[in-house]
Amino acid sequence: MGEQNQSLESFWMPFTGNRAFKKKPRLVERAAGMHYYTPGGREILDMVAGLWCCNAGHGHPKIVEAIQAQAAKMDYAPHFGFGHPAAFEAADMLASIAPEGMNHVFFTNSGSESVDTALKIALAYQKERGQASRTRLIGRERSYHGVGFGGISVGGIPYNRMQFSNSMIPGVDHLPHTHLLDRNAYSRGLPEHGIELADELENIVGLHHASNIAAVIVEPIAGSAGVLIPPKGYLKRLREICDKHDILLIFDEVITGFGRLGDNFASQAFDVKPDIITAAKGLTSGTVPMGAVIVRDEIYNEFMSKPGGAIELFHGYTYSAHPLAVAACKATQTVYKDEGLFHRAAEMASVFEQALHSLKGEPNVIDVRNYGLMGAVELAAIDGQPGARGADLLQKAFDAGLMIRITGDTIAFSPPLIVEESHMQQAVETLKTILRDL
Ligand SMILES: Cc1ncc(COP(=O)(O)O)c(C=O)c1O
Repeated sequence: MGEQNQSLESFWMPFTGNRAFKKKPRLVERAAGMHYYTPGGREILDMVAGLWCCNAGHGHPKIVEAIQAQAAKMDYAPHFGFGHPAAFEAADMLASIAPEGMNHVFFTNSGSESVDTALKIALAYQKERGQASRTRLIGRERSYHGVGFGGISVGGIPYNRMQFSNSMIPGVDHLPHTHLLDRNAYSRGLPEHGIELADELENIVGLHHASNIAAVIVEPIAGSAGVLIPPKGYLKRLREICDKHDILLIFDEVITGFGRLGDNFASQAFDVKPDIITAAKGLTSGTVPMGAVIVRDEIYNEFMSKPGGAIELFHGYTYSAHPLAVAACKATQTVYKDEGLFHRAAEMASVFEQALHSLKGEPNVIDVRNYGLMGAVELAAIDGQPGARGADLLQKAFDAGLMIRITGDTIAFSPPLIVEESHMQQAVETLKTILRDL
């Protein structure tokens, strides 16, 4: 083993084939704007915003400055029984962009923590309001809700569950996924077919009775399973069924929040209001780990309505509202607003759509789909080797100066919101060359 490879040994890398990576590492050590740079100085175009998170682009000077200043001013503040003013300001900022009537924010450090926090809030809320039998949670096939035990239990990605199958939280059902390739391939925006898949919730209610169901959790657009866009009317239908049976609806907006769909949250882009929103990633543009759970006022007020000043929710993290994260969050939200980045994302969506759909007809492409600045190109799997074509493409793209995300044989795109048409063209041309030679 060479010297460089030896130095990679200690880090057990997440969601990575460690042995393959360490044989042929893809390293980056610097970033600016739309680009990463390898240790050798090679420029890599970032078409995934890191990992769906760097929405403001890399190294924005105002965000960098805010983090640096906070590090010098106060390193850490406890939030169990104490507080620091900027954390309350950050919560106000999030409430001001959340759907109306969702004015309370619980801070976490990641998407996974946001999901598990949201599930716990949902369960505790049902108990608080005297509906303790409502304990079942409903997720969806092909959904990703992080890696906590709650998240993998409601999640629907088989590989993420199989090593832990005996340790899932009990009482979870799954809705069918909405990826109807045979009926909806090459949809631009919301696919036409599949609204009826939401009705499966009625069947689950029929099986267990509504009085036993606490909450439904879905990603408005499923990201990690390959950008699965909801059929027209599907999310509204889910909302209606939840309302009918008094079930909470949680939108996991860890990816879809903060301009990805051209609005503050998917809730606003799709005009469907959930009861709880989970967020992370773009919250700080990926600069400092942070997550948030935003809840409807009725939920918060239920916890606050009991007499006495005791702890209302026995939950929290040492680093909830960490000062560096709070500084990053405030600066990021200010940048989004001052630079009109969400509006920009909405404006660039049609250019993005055009660019992606120009890959239709290239070898092995079987679908192209998009919404806002989120898109995917699905490739046919090699017989008996699912994922092999995707893995090959990922490496070749990196070698050619392009960072994309691959899930199985699907290429996912979620560029920083500062992306220009020329970046999209570069990405598409690079992929065309690789696909023709793969
Ligand atoms: C929808 C969704 N929920 C939760 C998570 C987990 O977030 P994290 O990796 O920050 O724990 C992700 C991460 O990609 C996600 O896309």
